[in-house]
Amino acid sequence: MADFEPVLKAVVPVAGLGTRFLPATKATPKEMLPIVDKPAIQYVVEEAVNAGLVDVLMITGRSKRSIEDHFDRAYELEEALRAKGDEDRLASVCKSSDLAIMHYVRQGEPKGLGHAVLCARQHVGDEPFAVLLGDDMIDHRDPLLTRMMDVRSRLGGSVVALMEVDPDQVSSYGVAAIEATDEDDVVKITDLVEKPPQDEAPSNWIIIGRYVCDPRVFEVLDRTPPGRGGEIQLTDALLTLARMPVEEGGTVYGVKFRGRRYDTGNKQEYLRTVVQFAAERPDLAPEFMPWLREFVRKNRDGSPGES
Ligand code: UTP
Repeated sequence: MADFEPVLKAVVPVAGLGTRFLPATKATPKEMLPIVDKPAIQYVVEEAVNAGLVDVLMITGRSKRSIEDHFDRAYELEEALRAKGDEDRLASVCKSSDLAIMHYVRQGEPKGLGHAVLCARQHVGDEPFAVLLGDDMIDHRDPLLTRMMDVRSRLGGSVVALMEVDPDQVSSYGVAAIEATDEDDVVKITDLVEKPPQDEAPSNWIIIGRYVCDPRVFEVLDRTPPGRGGEIQLTDALLTLARMPVEEGGTVYGVKFRGRRYDTGNKQEYLRTVVQFAAERPDLAPEFMPWLREFVRKNRDGSPGES
């Protein structure tokens, strides 16, 4: 079977309001919140680049200027570090600006993830493209995007990333009805249900923040009415595509991901992510880990305030 055209561009929507992290996100994008000392969004862009996608379009909005600044040169800072001979910090500052070819388009109003993706239409054109949510991090040791791009290039259609959760968690997510294929970790999506009650969920496989979309998604999004929360939902458009034949740009596959994922848009997971990343840092762990062990030991039977 002929291979489908390759994926070359990444779209990263970061125009959401980030209400779960208020007041921190009143003037600072949640994607700029640091995981130890690197903003979450830099990990996401590094993931795209590691998958070979150096053309990155960010869908930004109000209060997101610092994201553009982060991926741009910072001459004064660079000069100051150079003058001090602080080569390590200089390299860390330059890294984000040398990473990818960055493009930006603004989503005037946060009308939903589907609407944010539609804002990429002119830049992307008639090519398949990847979508990476700016607050969803995938561990660089557990490749996902490359596998999704491989599935798209062989089978066509669109591809979503799936993760298995406990049955009592499905009601917080978009859940997929799936059909097996010849490949162990690849399924065909037959239905998508947003936040179903546990007893109505078609599976335990939820959609996470990585997508490879056929360009036909733009036409579908253009005629997708606002759905849940009055927002234009990417999931609704994907469901329409799942019901269309592959020759018309339809069909949606799912790649089952069993690696490490960090949902930094959620406070509990954000805290866990920072601790896990700190625990793996050779420059921090030797001091941080004994402190953490002692903290846990002392507070085993209650919160610090209670003892
Ligand atoms: P979320 O559902 O996490 O929404 O969006 P949010 O507004 O960012 O955060 P909360 O729930 O209010 O705390 C998922 C992704 O879609 C982007 C967000 O930036 C995030 O990366 N998004 C969402 C947009 O770019 N535009 C939108 O209109 C909505």
